[in-house]
Amino acid sequence: MMSRELIVSKIEHGTVIDHIPAGRALAVLRVLGITGREGVRVALVMNVESGKLGKKDIVKIEGRELTPEEVNIISAVAPTATINIVRSFEVVKKFKVSPPEVIRGRFKCKNPTCVTNAPREPVEPAFYLVRKEPPLFVCAYCGRYHELGDLL
Ligand code: CTP
Ligand code: ZN
Repeated sequence: MMSRELIVSKIEHGTVIDHIPAGRALAVLRVLGITGREGVRVALVMNVESGKLGKKDIVKIEGRELTPEEVNIISAVAPTATINIVRSFEVVKKFKVSPPEVIRGRFKCKNPTCVTNAPREPVEPAFYLVRKEPPLFVCAYCGRYHELGDLL
């Protein structure tokens, strides 16, 4: 019987983002700001069988070790994700993503009159985590609450 696992090969060095909800791999890359034009090797696996999730996506990034700060932002689109840091073909670190305490710059506030949305105010949006489960953020400037879905 063919192995279902090895759709793409193991990586030598880098980061494997595993247990992404099926169909969210592209959203994960978008949130990480990876466009494909950086020149790093990236493998996407979408809609493969997974014991825990039914189906899942996997993203493998060669040659880059993502830090917890960088990857926690992906909890916005992939709260179930596991991050594996690989060195010399071995997983040397494994952690689950968790919502970041603060998110700066990436998302827009939903309040149209928030100062961060004013055309001539170069104010970088910032959101603070006020509840972990399920994640709830508050705009640092206007106090509007945002669930993760509102930020995306
Ligand atoms: N992986 C990889 N290249 C490596 C080592 C691992 O691409 N050199 C991938 C595996 O294919 C898997 C993920 O990294 O998708 C995690 O690897 P591992 O911890 O060995 O697998 P599991 O034990 O199944 O992980 P978990 O318990 O988190 O499900
Ligand atoms: Zn705001």
